[in-house]
Amino acid sequence: MSQEQAIDLQQEHQKLREDLCGWQRSHNCGELTMSDNGSDVCLMGWVQFRRDHGGLIFVDLRDREGLTQIVFSPDTAPKAHETAHILRSEYVLAIKGRVRPRPEGMVNENLVTGEIEVVVNEWKLLNTSKTPPFAIEDRCDAGENLRLTWRYLDLRRPRMQRALRLRHNIAQSIRRFLDESGFLEIETPFLTKSTPEGARDFLVPSRLNPGEFYALPQSPQLFKQILMVSGFDRYFQIVHCFRDEDLRADRQPEFTQVDLEMSFADENQVMELSEGLMARLFSNVLETQLELPFPRMTWTEAMARFGVDKPDTRFGMELVDITDIVAHSGFKLFAQAKLVKAIKVTGGEALTRKEIDAYTEYVRAYGAQGLAWIKIRENEWQSPIAKFLSEDERAGIKKALDLKVGDIVFFQAADPQVVNAALGNLRVHIAREKGMIADNTYNFLWITDFPLFEYSEEEKRYVSCHHPFTSPKEEDLGKMLTDPANTYARAYDLVLNGNEIGGGSVRIHAADVQRLMFKALGFTDEQAEEQFGFFLRALEHGAPPHAGLAFGLDRLVMLLSGATSIRDVMAFPKTQKATCLMTGSPSAVAAKQLRELNLKIREQQQ
Ligand code: AMO
Repeated sequence: MSQEQAIDLQQEHQKLREDLCGWQRSHNCGELTMSDNGSDVCLMGWVQFRRDHGGLIFVDLRDREGLTQIVFSPDTAPKAHETAHILRSEYVLAIKGRVRPRPEGMVNENLVTGEIEVVVNEWKLLNTSKTPPFAIEDRCDAGENLRLTWRYLDLRRPRMQRALRLRHNIAQSIRRFLDESGFLEIETPFLTKSTPEGARDFLVPSRLNPGEFYALPQSPQLFKQILMVSGFDRYFQIVHCFRDEDLRADRQPEFTQVDLEMSFADENQVMELSEGLMARLFSNVLETQLELPFPRMTWTEAMARFGVDKPDTRFGMELVDITDIVAHSGFKLFAQAKLVKAIKVTGGEALTRKEIDAYTEYVRAYGAQGLAWIKIRENEWQSPIAKFLSEDERAGIKKALDLKVGDIVFFQAADPQVVNAALGNLRVHIAREKGMIADNTYNFLWITDFPLFEYSEEEKRYVSCHHPFTSPKEEDLGKMLTDPANTYARAYDLVLNGNEIGGGSVRIHAADVQRLMFKALGFTDEQAEEQFGFFLRALEHGAPPHAGLAFGLDRLVMLLSGATSIRDVMAFPKTQKATCLMTGSPSAVAAKQLRELNLKIREQQQ
């Protein structure tokens, strides 16, 4: 049948559409078993599949709970059978019928409802459907863009239904746990003033205040702190946050945080509470008992051993610092570099030239110029660089990395940032590629004592590593202005299997320290007053000591469901280019709307 004919037919069928007229479902499509044998039932759902067989018409009827086989028989209900010929995939129907056992040999052990079928007495066509662009089943191999364009169809697939149900269960568990722990759920505004969290703001023009803009919150950070000043003691919110940043598999421009804050508390109470919450989630959702407390590691140690601030500790291959060993090497690249580190891939000697070239390409994304390597063979070190290394250097490297025949070692020699990022990420890349990571292992880790500041080349000034409301370590208070690079923060991140799933800090609650912080960040007193005067004022009115944290809900659900992208656990995610393929946003707006907002679009510069 041509596409035009199919559309004509569907329009013809649409004329047969009926309303519910009081019909009510007695069961869902994933419910009926042999214990319902003989019952009269009413089901409603979508046609998953229709087949005509020996005069009978079989339909798999689907709703969110599952599938039930329904049968149209010319003997039982000739009229219902005759009209059932119009049924096509994704048509919506309501049936009334009687439950009976499936004939011998027709039982489907994989379905809850696999032992029964429902013989239809009467039915209504509730709606027709155009032919979907891909099959509504888990096996469908439609590309992601097609799935996002037709998201409502994609969401009908059992996999997506399971993911969003899991997300619901997780959110409910979190709500129950935090409620039991004395937290109040309080909403905070979306149309607000910019709070710097390190990303760009999404701005919303104000019609009533021409030329002025709201910022969508990157997080409710200041509001939750102000709620502590207001005496709410323990706050939480499952809340959308908006950040205009480059997107990746675990980043979206709008995402959901489980945001919380506690008064009269420090890092230990926040961490203990968070561990309890994780334990509850894992027990409820995965029936897994977590071992508490989670291990802690300082940021400095994490960077030294793993090169990244969110180490995946499910496997070894740690970074080893060999700077001292090669300080006087004949290999100038090593001798002159600020930092030289190496990782050993046990048994990696079998890696091909092509694989090594691919790793070299991989580390370029982290600023590396190249990737030195040595294969440890029985009687030789095979490598383009081995000839430059003295006997002492070889002995030193062998000891430091505990090298055995059959290993391969990769080296980076450069500025610490590049060395750590290149090898830290390569370590994970190789482990994933070579299947070195155990399944179903959940390694939680707290990273503590982050630097308070990092230098921004773009802005030519120090910026906050976490956010400007994070308290410095007490002993570093005096260094904020004089030695910002060596000032550490009372900040902590929770890492799960190499993913940052949460981050928080003890806050500054004294207005003078907060002013000092703004100064260290390069704000003049006037600028600090203009941007954050309202907040400084709040701190001046009896702010209690407080601390908090926010989890990334999307990332948590992704990890708990085994998905590899947060887009697979969000109902309506954006593409890598921050667009919504289903609605076509962002989009141009009418000239009238722009005029009302006092805005003018400049010609695009080519
Ligand atoms: P932070 O910026 O670390 O902290 O964010 C908290 C957690 O939110 C998740 N996350 C994201 N998830 C998806 N897409 C994104 N673009 C994205 N950005 C962040 C991460 C992260 O750990 N106000 C502070 C919290 C606090 O100090 O209490 C904050 O927002 O899992």
